[in-house]
Amino acid sequence: MAVSQTNLAWATLLDIGPSEHGGALRLHDRLALALRTTIRDGRLTEGAAVPPSRALAEELGCSRWVVTEAYGQLIAEGFLSARVGSATRVSWSPDASPTRPRARHVPAQTAIRYDLAPGLPDLRAFPRRRWAEAVRAVTGSAVHYDLGLPDPAGHAELRTTVAQYLRRSRGADADTTSVSVCAGVTDGLVRTCRALHARGITDLAMEHPGWRRLRDAATSTGLRVHPVPVDDDGLRVEDLVRTPARVVVVGAAHQFPTGTVLSPRRRARLVRWARETDGFVIEDDYDAEFRYDRHPVAVIQGMEPSRVFLLGSVSKTLSPALGLGWLVAPTAMAQALRSANPVAAAPPVLDQLALATFIERGWYDAHLRAARRRFRSRRDLLIRTLAAQIPQGRVAGTAAGLHVLLHLPDDTDTRGSVRAAAATGLRLTDLDDYRMHRSAERALVLGYGNISDTDIASAVALLREALSSPSTSGPPGTAQSGDDGL
Ligand SMILES: Cc1ncc(COP(=O)(O)O)c(C=O)c1O
Repeated sequence: MAVSQTNLAWATLLDIGPSEHGGALRLHDRLALALRTTIRDGRLTEGAAVPPSRALAEELGCSRWVVTEAYGQLIAEGFLSARVGSATRVSWSPDASPTRPRARHVPAQTAIRYDLAPGLPDLRAFPRRRWAEAVRAVTGSAVHYDLGLPDPAGHAELRTTVAQYLRRSRGADADTTSVSVCAGVTDGLVRTCRALHARGITDLAMEHPGWRRLRDAATSTGLRVHPVPVDDDGLRVEDLVRTPARVVVVGAAHQFPTGTVLSPRRRARLVRWARETDGFVIEDDYDAEFRYDRHPVAVIQGMEPSRVFLLGSVSKTLSPALGLGWLVAPTAMAQALRSANPVAAAPPVLDQLALATFIERGWYDAHLRAARRRFRSRRDLLIRTLAAQIPQGRVAGTAAGLHVLLHLPDDTDTRGSVRAAAATGLRLTDLDDYRMHRSAERALVLGYGNISDTDIASAVALLREALSSPSTSGPPGTAQSGDDGL
């Protein structure tokens, strides 16, 4: 199904099905139950079209009969209505029910109708049922000493599982001892910087533009940060060599925010630089699983494990709320890492074991396969819509990840446009927000992880309006930007 009809992640619908029925329900009953729950919860609202039965069957990998049975059941119950020649639609709203659904904490961001800021994966597609199953399984099966004092480097089972995963999917050189578990890339970077600082390193280079949180993480450890520009081939290693830094942080697979992929020549040049300077590369592999034009390129860490720290997390693949990530360190740095981070704690052990189970049972791979398909088609839709609606723009950085760059003519007031868009409920990010100073280049960073397919046309229409009549009412520099830059 190229375009889903609502915000709902249809492919995970059967994941939502309650497991209190112990799996005793037949597939069409489970689907009916999941749809009913979704409508009752207000996630599918009155008037929303459900996908054609053939498309949903394809998406769920079941027969069309299963879907038509489930739809038929819900039509009979009044949750859906069907008219010949038109889509089947939701015909029920929670307001009509005397028992309203549980009032949930509503986050402030609900004022945002459309989120084109980068940062989040598709939160609606979080694999709730399988994650819950993994948590339940490990809560039952963890041996009692797993519940004692946790290993600060992380539980050995997850370290082993992550090492295997990184070897097979990212071409990394990793084993149980070189992997430690941390709370994410940011946490991994702090730990790494502390270890390097303890070894007398004072200067670190970072891509510019870049994600400010990583710069803050590095400076919080006492390191001086040197920005190094990025061009169409990624980090400019020829500029890196002119800095006093012997360590560099690089998003080789998909630089944030420009979206460039480090070219093969630059990768080789970077490794040579690390050898020649007796230096280190810190590879931020934050969204590399999502590569669309070819298989994901292997990590640089696999080329030179003694000089590369590899950082990754599930923030872009599952959810940043899990706070689970990993750090692969050169063997010679393992002791330095431990002693420089004496009180660093790994994430909760049961969560670590749940992630290990989730990966071991093949659910992580299955989730990534489905997510990759969904993001690719959404990215294509966004690019097509931008080309049709904003012909003055040029889209770049599309090969991987969950965001693209929209280059705009030099006279565009991107800041004013971000403000104007915010007033209409559209969240945008100006490329300048990721720079240490304003630049002449005008561009927006557009994330498509957490917006539904059906919202893209409306979001781009609002973007076009914002670009043609930017609000200039706020003082300069107060744009409500979507993320924090370098
Ligand atoms: C450049 C970059 N690196 C890493 C991450 C992930 O960070 P963490 O794992 O700390 O959530 C992000 C998330 O948005 C990012 O933009």
